[in-house]
Amino acid sequence: VERSYIMIKPDGVQRGLVGEIISRFEKKGFLLKGLKLFQCPKDLAQEHYKDLKDKPFFPKLIDYITSGPVVCMAWEGAGVVASARKLIGATNPLQAEPGTIRGDLAVQTGRNVVHGSDSPDNGKREIELWFKEGELCQWESVQAPWLIE
Ligand code: GTP
Ligand code: MG
Repeated sequence: VERSYIMIKPDGVQRGLVGEIISRFEKKGFLLKGLKLFQCPKDLAQEHYKDLKDKPFFPKLIDYITSGPVVCMAWEGAGVVASARKLIGATNPLQAEPGTIRGDLAVQTGRNVVHGSDSPDNGKREIELWFKEGELCQWESVQAPWLIE
């Protein structure tokens, strides 16, 4: 099964957008398999964003992600990775379409409220990075037959 690591960044938590953001994935019909509020240590943020370590904004990005608690989530479903990226919208919120999370709720790339995995492989990698064994729940939603024929 395909899974995406979705994270509400510290600005989303501080701005009181946790419920709003979780709600969008719930209403879409994906299955929540893991959820926690978490203060991210620096080394984990650096590992998570290691592909960006040579970018000029990398130190600021690490400060941002570790500046307060984040909400870590594992969402499951066929096509969840690409679909979540669409629900989230473009990296720059000013370019994100209305109706997307960033398009509706943010104005700057450096404060874009939410993260979503960019491939199924990275979804797996990131969920293993952010969650310990036993933190994910194995369950099925009663809605399943009403979502998938
Ligand atoms: P994530 O879902 O968070 O991975 O965002 P993304 O996949 O849309 O973008 P990318 O992986 O390229 O960049 C990761 C994060 O780094 C972005 O979401 C921003 O928070 C931050 N970032 C990217 N580019 C810039 C930039 O030019 N300036 C600043 N300040 N931050 C940036
Ligand atoms: Mg990314």
